[in-house]
Amino acid sequence: MPAIVLVGAQWGDEGKGKATDLLGDRIDYVVKFNGGNNAGHTVVVGQEKYALHLLPSGILTPGVTPIIGNGVVIDLSVLFQELDDLTARGVDCTLLQVSANAHVIPSYNTVLDRVNERFLGNRKIGTTGRGIGPTYADKMSRVGIRVQDLYDESILRQKVEAALEFKNQVLAKIYNRRAIDVDEVVSELLSYADRLAPMVTDTSLEISRALDEGKTVLCEAGQATLLDVDHGTYPYVTSSNATSGGACTGAGLPPTRVDRVIAVLKAFTTRVGEGPFPTELHDEVGDRLRVIGGEFGTTTGRPRRIGWLDVVIGRYAQRINGVTDFVVTKLDNLDTFDEIPVCVAYDINGVRHDEMPVSQSDFHHATPIYEVLPGWKTDISGCRTFEELPENARAYIEFVEQRIGARISAIGVGPGRDEIIQRHSLLSD
Ligand code: GDP
Ligand code: IMO
Ligand code: MG
Repeated sequence: MPAIVLVGAQWGDEGKGKATDLLGDRIDYVVKFNGGNNAGHTVVVGQEKYALHLLPSGILTPGVTPIIGNGVVIDLSVLFQELDDLTARGVDCTLLQVSANAHVIPSYNTVLDRVNERFLGNRKIGTTGRGIGPTYADKMSRVGIRVQDLYDESILRQKVEAALEFKNQVLAKIYNRRAIDVDEVVSELLSYADRLAPMVTDTSLEISRALDEGKTVLCEAGQATLLDVDHGTYPYVTSSNATSGGACTGAGLPPTRVDRVIAVLKAFTTRVGEGPFPTELHDEVGDRLRVIGGEFGTTTGRPRRIGWLDVVIGRYAQRINGVTDFVVTKLDNLDTFDEIPVCVAYDINGVRHDEMPVSQSDFHHATPIYEVLPGWKTDISGCRTFEELPENARAYIEFVEQRIGARISAIGVGPGRDEIIQRHSLLSD
């Protein structure tokens, strides 16, 4: 069976967790391939609400094997906390597998992430402060600590020593902070080793065998297209590849095995942290949408920045990820609006741009060109078929579908597992 990749189309928090959960009982493996506990996925199952950070959302479906791939950065204290919390709530986490090649987030990188941000002042990125950037920087600089290093104490010590030799200088001399003790870091990391050991595997081999056996593998992205370090609004991005290509490198999955790419697109736009956002609303309409949508970060609790839907971004996401199917979420959050503007192009210094501008400086100066669609002023949360939606809601979906260049196969009309309209199957039949 081919693999499926699921990504976010905008700046994150599109409802990827819910979309993964939706596919849950029809998949065998769910793989997280990028990011770490900067992600925050809220999944509502009946009366229960789960907030997942490091574990893939598919863990909530009994029988699904969750995998943390090599492309992920793991804060081990968070991993075990999350496992304990879920286990206490009756979720079976015993099938979890963790790549031996994944990098761990040592505590010094969490410290550095936070002090870096403070040092940047108004040039800050607005990171989640979870040590993500410094850990990926270490990976690329070849001074990172991998899961497998926990099983060779002398190598682990050498690596921590090498990393701290430099970082302690930075902490002490630039940031005026206390130097970090090598022994403390080594013993903290080693304290997780025994518990982690049974989960550590060659996850790429496991995925390859599963596919050979006809199993369905879903690769679930953290973050989203415009937070991707290569294709996003750099430098206001995360430090990993959150687009579909990242699933190949981050899970050890060849592109020839990927058959479907599902992108989750929120019916409006949100962003957390700094960076350009052409359709951002700074008025009471934005405040209203934030409250209706409950748009406060799952990870940091920060109020999310809010704007109208931008189909230039949707089309860009389609192209970069090779999207076969979109899932539009939170259509119900637009139920009470008289009119719903959709950004279809940008005006940049008097010139119309129908595609994302090449230059980041231009994107910072983009003014949205809107087409205004009529609202439907009806509660759609009970609709379960496309035909049941009010005419203006159908027109909104059809308008967006025509602009973004791939079919909209499912539409979220509420946070619950069942609050969804399925138009086309998201799995290969
Ligand atoms: P993720 O990071 O992409 O998984 O998204 P988050 O979980 O951070 O944010 C999405 C929020 O929207 C969560 O609180 C979900 O419960 C909620 N949600 C997802 N789909 C829908 C939908 O169709 N309607 C409504 N009202 N809420 C939704
Ligand atoms: P999910 O998976 C929204 C943002 C941060 C910041 C930037 C860099 O829930 O969609 P980082 O800590 O990654 O170095 O921060 O990226 N960010 C997210 N925004 N949803 C996320 O994840 C995010 N993960 C990181 O707010 O602007
Ligand atoms: Mg989120």
